Amino acid sequence: MQVNVRAGAAERVVADALVLGVFEGTKRLTGAALAVDKATGGAIQKAIASGDFTGKNGQLIGLYPSKGKIARLLVVGLGDTKELSAERVRQAAGRAITQARLMGLKHVASVVHGAGKGGLDPAIAAQAVVEGSILGNYVFGEYLTQDKDRKRQVGSLTIIESERGRLAAVTKGAKKGETVSASVCLTRDLASTPSQDMTPADLGAAAKTVAASSPLLKATVHGPEDLKKMKMGALLGVGRGSAQPPRFIVVDYRPKGKIKKTVVIAGKGITFDTGGISLKPADGMEKMKYDMSGGAAVLGAMHALGKLRPAGIRVVGLVAAAENMPGGRAVKPGDVVRASNGMTIEVNNTDAEGRLVLADALSYAHRLKPDAVLDLATLTGAVVIALGSQCGGIMGNDAALTEFVIESGERTGERLWALPTWPEYKELLRSDVADMKNSAGREAGTIAGAMFLGQFANGYKWCHLDIAGVAWNDRDKPYAPKGSAGFGVRLLVDFVERMAGSK
Ligand code: BES
Ligand code: MN
Ligand code: ZN
Repeated sequence: MQVNVRAGAAERVVADALVLGVFEGTKRLTGAALAVDKATGGAIQKAIASGDFTGKNGQLIGLYPSKGKIARLLVVGLGDTKELSAERVRQAAGRAITQARLMGLKHVASVVHGAGKGGLDPAIAAQAVVEGSILGNYVFGEYLTQDKDRKRQVGSLTIIESERGRLAAVTKGAKKGETVSASVCLTRDLASTPSQDMTPADLGAAAKTVAASSPLLKATVHGPEDLKKMKMGALLGVGRGSAQPPRFIVVDYRPKGKIKKTVVIAGKGITFDTGGISLKPADGMEKMKYDMSGGAAVLGAMHALGKLRPAGIRVVGLVAAAENMPGGRAVKPGDVVRASNGMTIEVNNTDAEGRLVLADALSYAHRLKPDAVLDLATLTGAVVIALGSQCGGIMGNDAALTEFVIESGERTGERLWALPTWPEYKELLRSDVADMKNSAGREAGTIAGAMFLGQFANGYKWCHLDIAGVAWNDRDKPYAPKGSAGFGVRLLVDFVERMAGSK
């Protein structure tokens, strides 16, 4: 969707639909909404007076003006003025664009919700409108050939701003929203693509394409021979049952000028998780194509950083990519693999493969002397049980870093909730034959995963984000149609920018 910002009065815009926001409890319209209402014959005021529309958060009505050039009005409820947030604006924009998309509209215009009476910073508000619109307009149509309606998308969005003084900020925010959203859509595409077309090699190729989008990015894709040299026995072990050999992907962002900090973001890149010899049940297994969502989020974030170019910070994105399959050569329960840091792991369950591939990624991170390391992984079914689809789980070895990452989640509408990592939990992973085992069974499943990863992350500040419950939506959300959510990209970008800005 093409986005442009225009200075001028909302009532004079030419579009298939104009999107307006109204706060809950509004009796008399003010500002842009009032001007539009007057110019279009008073339909909004009538909807309010009749009680059909109250401005309650989540409400949406379509009106057909009796006057003027605007074909349709899409009026969204913004809820209580005091409760307004960037996330509410994103959701309102997402609801409106979804409606426009389903109606088959081509050109939509929108005011910037929340920048006036809502009291939001105009740049933040504009960014939120653009994010909600682009993300809500998303369709994964790659494999649809018959029903054209299913592929319909809004073609262009005009952000209309009447206050001259806000124009620069709105333009800047809208631009940023475009960059970030395009990166989220990239992540969604990668995660939605069936595993037959998104093998570890394909993920490597995607990383190369991402790197080619900015002169500040460089991608290196290590194949099986390199992995042997690097002694990545855990990643190699997971890949052994598959005809698609694993890859270790490194995407390096280096801005011009002095680098003051280095951050590593690592993603689980299991392009399909059958469970291996510890085979998963057939029901729902098709969803396991999204088991590379952590890796896809890393690539999406790197794409955004290459465009946004934060100064003074190096960011290294790592993706440990493999396909977890049963096969004649597959690792079997009880086998012992050796990670690149020298530690031995008894693989008592081949379905706990995400922590194995990340063990080698986190071991690799040491050589970069990072100030912080984040990993993102669809690691456990247990986190889906514990937290559902409203937030991801976060665990780590540094309370301040964890708090800092949670804040980025709040700021971007990608919420996280912390679980404990007390050393006592390490008991769960005791093995009789190796330094540790990879699965603790059902007890504290999400924490056990983090405790395992923590063994490879000692020596730097680290957080693990278990995104198994939030990476994929089973139902439509206001700005995320059912399917891949692209979770983590917005959070990571905000995190890197704030790290760059802090001491
Ligand atoms: N990829 C799965 C976790 C998962 C489950 C992601 C549901 C998304 C939705 C992971 O590799 C896995 O199989 N984890 C096991 C770990 C167990 C064997 C310790 C699990 O959660 O059952
Ligand atoms: Mn698994
Ligand atoms: Zn998995």
